[in-house]
Amino acid sequence: MKRFPEKRIFITGSGSGLGRALAVRFALEGWRVGVSDVNAARMEETAGLVRDAGGTALAIACNVTSAEDLARAARSLAAEWGGLDILVNNAGVAAGGLFERVPPDRWEWILDVNFRGVVHGCRAFIPMFKAQRRGHIVNIASSAGIVSLPEMASYNATKAAVISVSETLRTELAPHGVGVTVVCPTFINTNIMESFHSPDEDQRRGAERFFAASRYPAERFADFTYNAVRRNRLYAFPQRDGRMAWRLKRLFPELFYRYIARRYSERRNRS
Ligand SMILES: NC(=O)c1ccc[n+]([C@@H]2O[C@H](COP(=O)([O-])OP(=O)(O)OC[C@H]3O[C@@H](n4cnc5c(N)ncnc54)[C@H](O)[C@@H]3O)[C@@H](O)[C@H]2O)c1
Repeated sequence: MKRFPEKRIFITGSGSGLGRALAVRFALEGWRVGVSDVNAARMEETAGLVRDAGGTALAIACNVTSAEDLARAARSLAAEWGGLDILVNNAGVAAGGLFERVPPDRWEWILDVNFRGVVHGCRAFIPMFKAQRRGHIVNIASSAGIVSLPEMASYNATKAAVISVSETLRTELAPHGVGVTVVCPTFINTNIMESFHSPDEDQRRGAERFFAASRYPAERFADFTYNAVRRNRLYAFPQRDGRMAWRLKRLFPELFYRYIARRYSERRNRS
């Protein structure tokens, strides 16, 4: 992290879960942490945790669906701290459902938060990073954007788009000394099910079980992500199952989806 002697980070959606764990992880290293969320009470709670961990917190309420909110956050950070070193586009929501049962307004909602939110974040901070000739963008995508499991099309699509944007920016920003990392976790037990939308109640219950069964804590995710940024990695797959799936899909794409389709058909036939 010697690239960033001023130690300034801004994290969207850091009122909860993975964003909060990242805020505390960087605070433990003595960073100044810009915490941000649509949920003001949780945002303030995270700011308190950052201070308890030895960091400096600046709370900036921000809805990532608003380009203006993110532009305002960039202006505030420039005024308060004279710039920024790391932007984490973390805020996100989750959804599921059979493809034809997900209505257009639900597609718009998840695209607005998970994809356009990342675009707004990058657009707001890239001019600052280019002017500084220094900076790093961390986009929290998901292994869902690689694996594209059934009955999760809208979520998968937003995360695949975030991976693609990250790959493009990695090269576009390289001449300016700006790094990009895209993080693709599988399941981690956070508050993400609070935002979950699906036309299918059974699917909600199934997803809840999956998250509750995760043995990979948010703190470990934060540690892994911290080290991925330190090593300036483009791809960060915190969990072994995510890393395996990524490799298998790249090596054997046809086989990979034949296998997933077979497992899915078996499950549908049983229920
Ligand atoms: N938990 C997992 O298993 C998992 C797996 C893969 C990817 N992710 C991704 O990690 C990120 C964080 O998720 P989490 O699991 O910590 O969930 P979480 O629900 O615990 O935290 C998400 C935070 O984002 C905030 N948020 C939602 N909409 C917002 C908006 N429009 N503007 C600003 N803030 C908003 C919420 O208020 C919440 O505090 C998301 O992008 C999610 O897709 C999570």
